[in-house]
Amino acid sequence: MAHLWTLLLLKQSLTMILEDAVKKATDVRQKVCEWHSPEELKELLDLELRDSGEPEARILERCRDAIRYSVKTTHPHFFNQLYAGLEPYSLVASFITDALKPSLYTYEMSPVFTLMENAVLRKLIQTVGWEEGGDGLFNAGGSMSNMYALNLARYRHFPEIKELGNSAAPRLAVFTSQECHYSISKAAALMGIGTKNVFVVPSDKRGKMTPSALEEQIESVKSEGGVPFMVNATAGTTVLGAFDPIDEIADICEKNKLWLHVDACWGGAVLMSNKHKLLMKGIHRVDSVSWNPHKMLMACLQCSAFLVRDKTHLLQRCHSARASYLFQQDKFYDLSYDTGDKSVQCSRKPDAFKFWLMWKALGTSELEQRVDRALTMARYLADEITKREGFRLVMEPEYANVCFWYIPPSLRDLPDGPEFQEKLHNVAPVVKERMMKKGSMMVGYQPHRGQANFFRMVVISPQVSRQDMDFVLDEIHSLGKDL
Ligand SMILES: Cc1ncc(COP(=O)(O)O)c(C=O)c1O
Repeated sequence: MAHLWTLLLLKQSLTMILEDAVKKATDVRQKVCEWHSPEELKELLDLELRDSGEPEARILERCRDAIRYSVKTTHPHFFNQLYAGLEPYSLVASFITDALKPSLYTYEMSPVFTLMENAVLRKLIQTVGWEEGGDGLFNAGGSMSNMYALNLARYRHFPEIKELGNSAAPRLAVFTSQECHYSISKAAALMGIGTKNVFVVPSDKRGKMTPSALEEQIESVKSEGGVPFMVNATAGTTVLGAFDPIDEIADICEKNKLWLHVDACWGGAVLMSNKHKLLMKGIHRVDSVSWNPHKMLMACLQCSAFLVRDKTHLLQRCHSARASYLFQQDKFYDLSYDTGDKSVQCSRKPDAFKFWLMWKALGTSELEQRVDRALTMARYLADEITKREGFRLVMEPEYANVCFWYIPPSLRDLPDGPEFQEKLHNVAPVVKERMMKKGSMMVGYQPHRGQANFFRMVVISPQVSRQDMDFVLDEIHSLGKDL
């Protein structure tokens, strides 16, 4: 049994976590962040590790400080990333798995979580619409899930690469839109495909890949001796929240015998919604999907599924190393439950449990309502932006990304031109600095396709109300009206 002092420490810590990292962190009257420069923060945290340990009371103080100076991503005014809000059931699951320290390589090590992962994967595969089933696994984030897609697609085309390396392959080419997530290039670099062999397909004004441009690029690469093997389509792009036309892209992939992966890390949640799932029309035709329940569906970080339509154990064949100390072939149970060799990891956290528990508690219908509510709230915000003087939408939102400019009174009479654009470009960074130093909220901004910096609001959490949307616009005006 754990020592009494361990139990006491945990009891005290849990009380503090509930008070500071849960109750206070989600209280709208509290700050979203307490800004300090790295130098100030180093002083405040006293980071040096010493030969002798510190008393427990001091350690609890340190925990309190860690919470205090961290960004409260569960705060109702945190809109900075593609995740937000507190999901209590998945938090309970996180506590349990961290207390138990399971690892998902073999059934003997993680019987419960292996079965739960299988159950969640089955349900997601069904939701994607692969009637004949499929395969998959949960990974440490969407970037990694996308990397799996590249590796699997390459393996299907050139299985000999696993043993012989890249020299066994011709010059391979991947296609993805200009709006895709950067993890596609990172994966290409990591895998030795090379970032120059990631061909960037233009997107239309709404940020959707242009299928005719994809087709032209495939032909052009082929004519130069390259070998196309995969197309990555994005469902819910990072900045604009755009959905690539999956059905049309699937036609092109079928014609050219290319693996079609859909990065639905952000947008996959629309599949839960009868009202919005048409955004991913054609998803049942694709070869693989990445989907992060830790984004729109609010599971605790990290929770990312990689799903594959293949039923020939491609994941296993592509990644297996058959370590004899883990995957003995003469075990006393059904070895198909030893799923670890599908993964490039050895130890792997049972992230699926976080999603399984919340799905059990909320049911599919509440998950669906969550998505619908977020998109209704994004619509409300977009309508408010259209109504208010000094605010301008970059485009009508299709999903939960609402992109807009704030134009301070001093710029409102300037004609649109280089001077106006230059001044507008400087507005969002200053407003962002001010909101962080005040701690009132966090909203992201970025330059995009040569346009002046604009804000990207991400509306996810069911904690968020119309008053919070109004607050964001009022606060941006209040922080930027003198610029
Ligand atoms: C479209 C898209 N794909 C992939 C990712 C990467 O996911 P993760 O942060 O879990 O690595 C992101 C992150 O925001 C994303 O927006």
